[in-house]
Amino acid sequence: MKVAITGASGLFGRGLVEIFSLRHTVFPLTRSEADITRAEEVRNVIRRLGPDVVVHPAGIPDLDRCEADPARAFLTNVHGTRHVVEAVREARAALVYVSTDAVFDGKKGTPYAETDPAIPFTVYGRTKLRGEGLASTLPEHWIFRVSVLFGPGKTNFVARALEKIAADEQFVAASDQLGSTTYTLDAARTIMDVVEARRFGLYHLSNSGALTRYELAAKAAEFAQLDTRKVIGKPSAEMSRRAVRLKYAVMAMDGLSHAGFDPPRPWQEALKEYVTRLEVRGS
Ligand SMILES: NC(=O)c1ccc[n+]([C@@H]2O[C@H](COP(=O)([O-])OP(=O)(O)OC[C@H]3O[C@@H](n4cnc5c(N)ncnc54)[C@H](OP(=O)(O)O)[C@@H]3O)[C@@H](O)[C@H]2O)c1
Repeated sequence: MKVAITGASGLFGRGLVEIFSLRHTVFPLTRSEADITRAEEVRNVIRRLGPDVVVHPAGIPDLDRCEADPARAFLTNVHGTRHVVEAVREARAALVYVSTDAVFDGKKGTPYAETDPAIPFTVYGRTKLRGEGLASTLPEHWIFRVSVLFGPGKTNFVARALEKIAADEQFVAASDQLGSTTYTLDAARTIMDVVEARRFGLYHLSNSGALTRYELAAKAAEFAQLDTRKVIGKPSAEMSRRAVRLKYAVMAMDGLSHAGFDPPRPWQEALKEYVTRLEVRGS
């Protein structure tokens, strides 16, 4: 297949490019090739490349940035996605849209299924849900909701934690928000399998198991043989953040199971692989 990937220099974009390149012809699209806020530019690039599938992780994933500048968040995450969707429609291609657990309100207390109502209460969550609505107007689409991403190629929560602890500084992380986490390379492999099987639909996609950010940082420090006492767990109320964080965001992966795919391995195994890779390659 010919696969175009937006946001190719981003954290998930890099993982998607690495994995899809193993079996397909990949066109990595960075902002300089296609600024998604420019409809004409996006349409021209997609028309010229003629991909079978467009994978679209480009956007602004930072909750606080979106809360601080809703106009930019909507321009990029909603209008940008609209431009990608229209270009994909015109090219008669299929679309993979990358979404988030932030479409939920965090009040459920048991794992969120794909069938649960999405009620976002952050600017970021609202923009991503609008993006889902746009993607679902295409006859051939997949929506994958991922959670706290870590992976090679770009700094992320785990890399930042390890950097601080290695520098002998404390790393403060929330200890009262239970959620999921997603290793970009595992998620990209699953997306590729689902796309190749042409099982269109909405899927939750994270590594198996529930955890807090505190546990994620502490486990990473342990795998990197650093001092885990440098990781300090705090209630989220004590951490000044512009956007409210979800108290509960664990995702159930019923969609994948029903479609006959194994959910990705436990998060600890994925994290160990990533930390080892960081030590060997440095990124
Ligand atoms: N990170 C997480 O923990 C997380 C959790 C759940 C869901 N997600 C979703 O996963 C997706 C990828 O996240 P990520 O962590 O990989 O984000 P990222 O590292 O910030 O990458 C996003 C990419 O989008 C590009 N982009 C931004 N505005 C653009 C524009 N106007 N035109 C073209 N490209 C543009 C950025 O390009 P520049 O480098 O030029 O800015 C960047 O390469 C997002 O859709 C996000 O909502 C992420």
